[in-house]
Amino acid sequence: RLKIVDVKDEGLDRLGQSMSIRGWVRTCRVQSSVTFIEVNDGSCLSNMQCVINPNSVGYDEVESGSVATGASVLVEGILVSSQGSKQKVELKVNRLVMIGKVDPSAYPIQKKRASREFLRTIAHLRPRTNTFGAVTRVRNALAYATHKFFQENGFVWVSSPIITASDCEGAGEQFCVTTLIPNNHEGDGCVIDKIPVTKDGRIDWSQDFFGKPAFLTVSGQLNAETYALALSDVYTFGPTFRAENSNTSRHLAEFWMIEPELAFADLNDDMACATAYLQYVVKYVLENCTEDMDFFNTWIEKGIIRRLMDVVEKDFIQMPYTDAIELLDKAKREFEFPVKWGLDLQSEHERYITEEALGGRPVIIRDYPKDIKAFYMRLNNDGQTVAAMDILVPKVGELIGGSQREERLDYLERRLEKLNLNKDSFWWYLDLRRFGSVPHAGFGLGFERLVQLATGIDNIRDAIPFPRTPGSAEF
Ligand code: 4AD
Ligand code: MG
Repeated sequence: RLKIVDVKDEGLDRLGQSMSIRGWVRTCRVQSSVTFIEVNDGSCLSNMQCVINPNSVGYDEVESGSVATGASVLVEGILVSSQGSKQKVELKVNRLVMIGKVDPSAYPIQKKRASREFLRTIAHLRPRTNTFGAVTRVRNALAYATHKFFQENGFVWVSSPIITASDCEGAGEQFCVTTLIPNNHEGDGCVIDKIPVTKDGRIDWSQDFFGKPAFLTVSGQLNAETYALALSDVYTFGPTFRAENSNTSRHLAEFWMIEPELAFADLNDDMACATAYLQYVVKYVLENCTEDMDFFNTWIEKGIIRRLMDVVEKDFIQMPYTDAIELLDKAKREFEFPVKWGLDLQSEHERYITEEALGGRPVIIRDYPKDIKAFYMRLNNDGQTVAAMDILVPKVGELIGGSQREERLDYLERRLEKLNLNKDSFWWYLDLRRFGSVPHAGFGLGFERLVQLATGIDNIRDAIPFPRTPGSAEF
């Protein structure tokens, strides 16, 4: 079954052939002798211009006004070359069938462009707009290119669990999954004194579904490590969850993460893999999503194509954390948050580094102080920093976070103790260091931030179909 994307460019080969299109009416312009109906089926940005005249079957739908913006239709006709400048081909309609009518006075999407804030309130209908159609197709292409890159490079895709008992990042940002609270959220099903408690007044987790507290995962990394230490190179690609109360344009409570894990690898291998991956997927969308990318270049961020070509063609800049602090120290401007060795970089610092100081190129910052990073990162010989790396990109800030993992059992045990983490609950993770440990490294890339980078969309809520943010879980 042909879609608009199949004929919009190559349509000239099919001139004179009959075809049918199923889609949604974008506009309907009635003129005295002919009527132009623009139909979109979501397969591409282009509409099919359908030219219908009073002799065509179904013309009564035009006369009655049913062919309105948002209605779904089937149009059958002959593909002919178009006189119009906007398209190469158009459909000379023989038959129009109304599939689903629309009440024009109630349909919230009008020809005039709506604000993205408004479109978030109609997340169920916004994929019918040009912007969200294009974002969705580019997101799909990035996912496809991700699997293609890793598969072509010998990585095995591993499904990491969504429900877990461990907190990979140790930041205490997990959502709890429990059956102790009845799932009747409509009425008064949740009676506090029905929640089982122990004699000393604590929640009695032994009566919960899993017999202990369980959470939505913040990262699949620890599980990916176990498979890397058996299959060598693996990656995960799935949803992750963080209950961090940050209402920013870069944070979601539910986001997708790609987490490769490389065995027999160090931080340099990790950075090389991240760079090659990022360049591959960006190149892929530039080459395969040309119509959508031109749309972003014109309507969302002027010059984005040039900026992305730089990502593909130029080397990423590498810089130790210590040098980044020095760079920020010398910046001739005030920052809201303090700049000091030992403190984490805030997004204003990250954006200054990639956007202003280093001319809009991706930057890899490495060797962060151990105290601001997670327990699993490998201690460097200086005893103060860990073999960590973050990749920062213009407009988005931190896109990738990764590290070489601590593969030495004694170091890892000491680190867990120092951070007051329960060693017993990490018994399986420590086993990897007991039985055939190897140097290994990996990283996590926030998929929605990649979508932001590739499309120029400035709010992460518009990079995922149904955003989950503090106070918002509609649809
Ligand atoms: O830097 P993070 O926290 O690293 C990890 O989770 C590691 N376990 C990854 C690994 O080494 N396998 O998160 C990785 C990336 C960030 O760089 C960012 O792009 C994205 O995940 N991210 C978020 N994206 C959207 N909303 C949030 N709340 C995010 N938190 C992190
Ligand atoms: Mg990070």
